[in-house]
Amino acid sequence: MVRLQSYVLLGFTAFALAAASPATKRRTPLIKDSLPQVPRGWTLHRAAPAHHMIKLRIGLPQSNFAELEKALHEVSDPAHPRYGAHLSKEEVEELVAPHPESLDLVEDWLISHGFDVATLDRSPAKDWITIIVPVHQAESMLDTKYNVYKHEATGMELVRTQSYSLPEYLFEHVDVIQPTTMFGGGMRAMDTTSHIELDDSEPGASAAADDCTNTRITVACLQDLYKTKGYVPKVPGKNKIGITGYLEQYANFADLKQFYQAYVPAAVDSKFDVKLIHGGKNDQNLSLAGEEANLDVQYAGGISYPTPNIFWSTGGSPPFIPDLVTPTNTNEPYADWLDYVLGLSAEELPQTITTSYGDDEQTVPRDYAIRVCNELAQLGARGVTLFYSSGDFGVGGNNKTRNTCITNDGTNTVSFLPAFPASCPYVTAVGGTTNLTEVAVNFSGGGFSNYFPTPDYQKKEVESYLEKIGSTYDGLYNRTGRGYPDVAALGTSFRIIYQGRDVGIGGTSASSPAFAAVISLVNDALIAKGRPPLGWLNPWLYSTGYAALNDITSGSNPGCNTTGFAAGPGWDPVTGFGSPNFEKILALLDLEK
Ligand SMILES: *[C@@H]1O[C@H](CO)[C@@H](O)[C@H](O)[C@H]1NC(C)=O
Ligand SMILES: *[C@@H]1O[C@H](CO)[C@@H](O)[C@H](O)[C@H]1NC(C)=O
Ligand SMILES: *[C@@H]1O[C@H](CO)[C@@H](O)[C@H](O)[C@H]1NC(C)=O
Ligand SMILES: *[C@@H]1O[C@H](CO)[C@@H](O)[C@H](O)[C@H]1NC(C)=O
Ligand SMILES: *[C@@H]1O[C@H](CO)[C@@H](O)[C@H](O)[C@H]1NC(C)=O
Ligand SMILES: *[C@@H]1O[C@H](CO)[C@@H](O)[C@H](O)[C@H]1NC(C)=O
Repeated sequence: MVRLQSYVLLGFTAFALAAASPATKRRTPLIKDSLPQVPRGWTLHRAAPAHHMIKLRIGLPQSNFAELEKALHEVSDPAHPRYGAHLSKEEVEELVAPHPESLDLVEDWLISHGFDVATLDRSPAKDWITIIVPVHQAESMLDTKYNVYKHEATGMELVRTQSYSLPEYLFEHVDVIQPTTMFGGGMRAMDTTSHIELDDSEPGASAAADDCTNTRITVACLQDLYKTKGYVPKVPGKNKIGITGYLEQYANFADLKQFYQAYVPAAVDSKFDVKLIHGGKNDQNLSLAGEEANLDVQYAGGISYPTPNIFWSTGGSPPFIPDLVTPTNTNEPYADWLDYVLGLSAEELPQTITTSYGDDEQTVPRDYAIRVCNELAQLGARGVTLFYSSGDFGVGGNNKTRNTCITNDGTNTVSFLPAFPASCPYVTAVGGTTNLTEVAVNFSGGGFSNYFPTPDYQKKEVESYLEKIGSTYDGLYNRTGRGYPDVAALGTSFRIIYQGRDVGIGGTSASSPAFAAVISLVNDALIAKGRPPLGWLNPWLYSTGYAALNDITSGSNPGCNTTGFAAGPGWDPVTGFGSPNFEKILALLDLEK
């Protein structure tokens, strides 16, 4: 209370003490973030109930992020003496810890709103503070009004606002507060084209495990194609692969067993380890098995067996009922998952992680996307390779019609719509191919970010691609943005077991676990030799690794009433550098199969 009084006093004497300390700066609330309009696809439904509880996450600036970024580049660059010297959890936390002044000022602000700082919920690096407050209190703290917005297509409801404010002096001490202006319906599964392609009546189900055709891809087919066949993982006690699950997609043990019986008999007695995050569940009712989750565990597990698999089921998905007083649904799966994973010790943290979820970049506020991307960088600094599927709608937005290509910025401009987190430069985005000859599949998400500039590691490739296409699509994409995907893998006709049935499935949702599993085997080979894992892949990939990939040179990713970008020799925003050749990667790294 004493602190609160001195805070108020300082406020009244701000003019007299001008510039004496940042705390004496103006307290007038100024708009911190705002949306020009209700985002496309949403309608304002009604005022939010005043006593509805929301969980606000306050992101404090990571004072030494530039240093973390420098370290990340050094430990990931094969030409640097620090290559492979990944940082410890403590080292990362020290670099991202907020400046003490930010901590003090944000704490004072919270105290002035009646919070007890001793009991605040904080991230391990103290760079996030989480508070649970009724809507009316959030409204007074952020000088705003919350409403219930409804998503027209799905009926999903969210409590959000179109703008929020903070006292001016806090601007440099708070990066972001959410949920406020973030409408991205959380991560929608990029599984819209991982629809069931064939049913059990097709010949697929009864054929042999290694009978491969353009419309029938199995674990054995991928082992053959990507040359992992015959490799026996050497250090399954040390190497692990992580698979993320959201949206109440449950990976089913019985389906996995049936899958292994049919396609990977050696693995039949193994299964994945489930970890539940933030109310995530693990319902093993067969009729609730998720196709996305099953696809991910069956392929990541099948290719990397006997490497241990961890399946993370993160809670917080629709349907959302905003009148509930319990803040069970903040729809912030990125943050919940990151909090959890960044808290894992070196022994618990998998070296390779695959995620087949994402959303249109424009539905995630820029400051929040940058923050999430910076946290993914922390995982890279700790030596984790992160794979994200690049999206299933070509150059179009995350919508089956593919012609939903209009900006949310108030100008309603027709534009290609990049996907996030694929657009984050610290992840490796995986596009899709089709057929055993591997050509770009026409749904492969790809393009250029509007939030993240072209990183140095890919400047040469992006420039040369843009030079090739000249003025084609000028104005539809961002010439100075990060280009993605970085790599690709098959993404059609994967046989999976889903709710007891043998079915075909496709999507870059299939490509990401397939590529990740191959890299997990590379990490196994490295660790077995006492060497560090690959970690953040892109600097290695763009400087030397690309030479060990199968370049995909035909096909394109249509959308927005265009034929999209064309694949071609070298890097392209459809298939990146292409699909993996395990034997070549091992040779390049001076390893033996
Ligand atoms: C996809 O786009 C169409 C056409 O713009 C729209 O009617 C539909 O609601 C969108 N679907 C989703 C899931 O956003
Ligand atoms: C499994 O889920 C289905 C669909 O929700 C439900 O009808 C069924 O009762 C559940 N079975 C069990 C054993 O809970
Ligand atoms: C894939 O192969 C089939 C024949 O199996 C062919 O009809 C189709 O055009 C090929 N797809 C592409 C994108 O080339
Ligand atoms: C993509 O290819 C599939 C299968 O070849 C075809 O049915 C579909 O119409 C194509 N989509 C676009 C947008 O070109
Ligand atoms: C294009 O990308 C740059 C670099 O990330 C960014 O600063 C700019 O705002 C983007 N332009 C648009 C129109 O989004
Ligand atoms: C694409 O063409 C359809 C049909 O002509 C039209 O309705 C739609 O607005 C167009 N979309 C874009 C992004 O130009």
